[in-house]
Amino acid sequence: MQFNNLLFEEVNNIGKVTINRPDKLNALNNETFRELSTLFDYIYKSKTIFVVIITGAGEKAFVAGADIKELSVLDSKAGVEFSQFGQSVFNKIENCNKPIIAAVNGFALGGGCELALASHIRLASENARFGQPEVNLGIIPGYGGTQRLARQVGKGLAMEYILTGDIIPAPEAYRIGLVNKVYSSEELLAKANEMAEKIISKGKYAITASLKTINAVDNLSLEDGLKFESDEFGNCCDTAEFKEGTSAFLEKRKANFER
Ligand code: COA
Repeated sequence: MQFNNLLFEEVNNIGKVTINRPDKLNALNNETFRELSTLFDYIYKSKTIFVVIITGAGEKAFVAGADIKELSVLDSKAGVEFSQFGQSVFNKIENCNKPIIAAVNGFALGGGCELALASHIRLASENARFGQPEVNLGIIPGYGGTQRLARQVGKGLAMEYILTGDIIPAPEAYRIGLVNKVYSSEELLAKANEMAEKIISKGKYAITASLKTINAVDNLSLEDGLKFESDEFGNCCDTAEFKEGTSAFLEKRKANFER
């Protein structure tokens, strides 16, 4: 697939999405959002992509935010639409039926931090820097940052980072649970690939069911979440991969799941 602002390749069932505006530190303009929307529709339907890695082009930035030039002209009506469109694309990413690993290779500010938060797993390079600095521009995060940052690191820390606009260096992001792991810049993509391959080696239905049930934590009460979990657990028990996984264990061999 060809895009103006994205690179996309599929290798060994891993879809690699690179935000590709390095001269603008991969800032997300409207066209990039439209392209992400199209690409994630494709990824959702794909029968050959099992895991997705998102990263940024160049060595400096994952994504340095929404395109400030485009947002500088918004009025209140256009601002609501701008925010809702970005949210809809990031919702599409969060609700994707394939695991999304953000390989955060530099600045992840504003919309970049929000893109990482909408991804399922965040791996960061040592030079990654997160933050929601929108207050410096007289706005608030509009692509889910107020909600997802608070859910990820807790309301108190989200208040601090959003109210001060402070940058969060990778070690601090790791300490507060914003990122899962930190690697050197040289290692980051290889480690993301390694994790993707590990996930691909598991039962496919179980991976999708895990995504759905963990994502539900934001929308369901504990009671409803537990019911959802039991239903999905039951669905897993009907699959061939369940038979293969349990048989392999009992026969003391490695499970060989169908792709
Ligand atoms: N929107 C539009 N353009 C952006 C951008 C953004 N969010 N972030 C960076 N750019 C552009 C710069 O305007 C510059 O373009 P130019 O060369 O045509 O002037 C280019 O990317 C390089 O950025 P620059 O600021 O020169 O790099 P730096 O290393 O000095 O600073 C940052 C890096 C990330 C600290 C700085 O670019 C920055 O603060 N960006 C905005 C971050 C932000 O507020 N994000 C939230 C937006 S809601």
